[in-house]
Amino acid sequence: MLLPAFFQVRYIITDKHVNVLAIYSNKGGVGKTAAAVNLAYLAAQSGLHTLVCDLDAQSSTTFYFRVKPKIKKKARGLTKSSRAIDNSIKSTNYEKLDLLPADFSHRNMDIVFSKLKNPTGRLRRVLKPLRTEYDLIMLDCPPYINLLAENIFNAADFILVPLIPTVLSARTHQQLLSFLTKKGYDTAKIHPFASMVDRRKTLHRTLTETFQTKFNGTLHTAIPYSSDVEKMGLHREPVAVFAANSTAAEAYRQLWAELYHELTEAT
Ligand SMILES: Nc1ncnc2c1ncn2[C@@H]1O[C@H](COP(=O)(O)OP(=O)(O)O)[C@@H](O)[C@H]1O
Ligand SMILES: [Mg+2]
Repeated sequence: MLLPAFFQVRYIITDKHVNVLAIYSNKGGVGKTAAAVNLAYLAAQSGLHTLVCDLDAQSSTTFYFRVKPKIKKKARGLTKSSRAIDNSIKSTNYEKLDLLPADFSHRNMDIVFSKLKNPTGRLRRVLKPLRTEYDLIMLDCPPYINLLAENIFNAADFILVPLIPTVLSARTHQQLLSFLTKKGYDTAKIHPFASMVDRRKTLHRTLTETFQTKFNGTLHTAIPYSSDVEKMGLHREPVAVFAANSTAAEAYRQLWAELYHELTEAT
């Protein structure tokens, strides 16, 4: 008997344990948070019970979802027990979509991680019980290469990297891949996608194409440069909510469709 699509997705994603997805880049301002907010919303809309973790002390995802970040005295939350995480999780205005708000103390996490045994595997351990509670856990990451980044690489099954089509971004991405290879990480789970693409610019079009051949695992969908994405700051909503018919909303829907296919195909 063929199950309805939603049950199939749930089964496939949880069964294959491809449910921690990080949106990471060692550059800031490349569209990580915009992607996290829109993809998490679309994932929840498609029926997946989704948790977004705002790991960036700048707390933009928390802002977009209209949740107040908590200010704590010490780095707690992700470095403490899973129970502490459970207590911090908030529901959003959208069905099936929860948020672990940014905590300003995340900026201290590196110091705390470095004092722990197995400092690079801590995030993976803490998220483990949540993997059975949620179909998809999305990590919106800060732009560093450090101990927190290593925790993210170890915790995530799939890493999305927004790449702006400039020569410097390609170079920075290459540096990230070299760093990971040197540290012995598996770069196969890294999947770039072109972000903030201005198709009027020849260089943007050329580089967007180059990414496909230069970096293994690059997704085919490109997110265009669009003022509707910038307007998320005014609306504090995913683009699909306040501009459902816009080019940007369509691009995120396409990115989600491609990603969903990759997640269910990945082993
Ligand atoms: N596709 C896009 N088109 C236009 N502006 C964008 C786009 N994606 C992000 N932005 C804007 O660029 C800035 C940085 O985006 P953000 O998603 O916060 O980046 P990051 O999380 O990588 O630092 C924000 O002001 C955001 O509104
Ligand atoms: Mg961000």
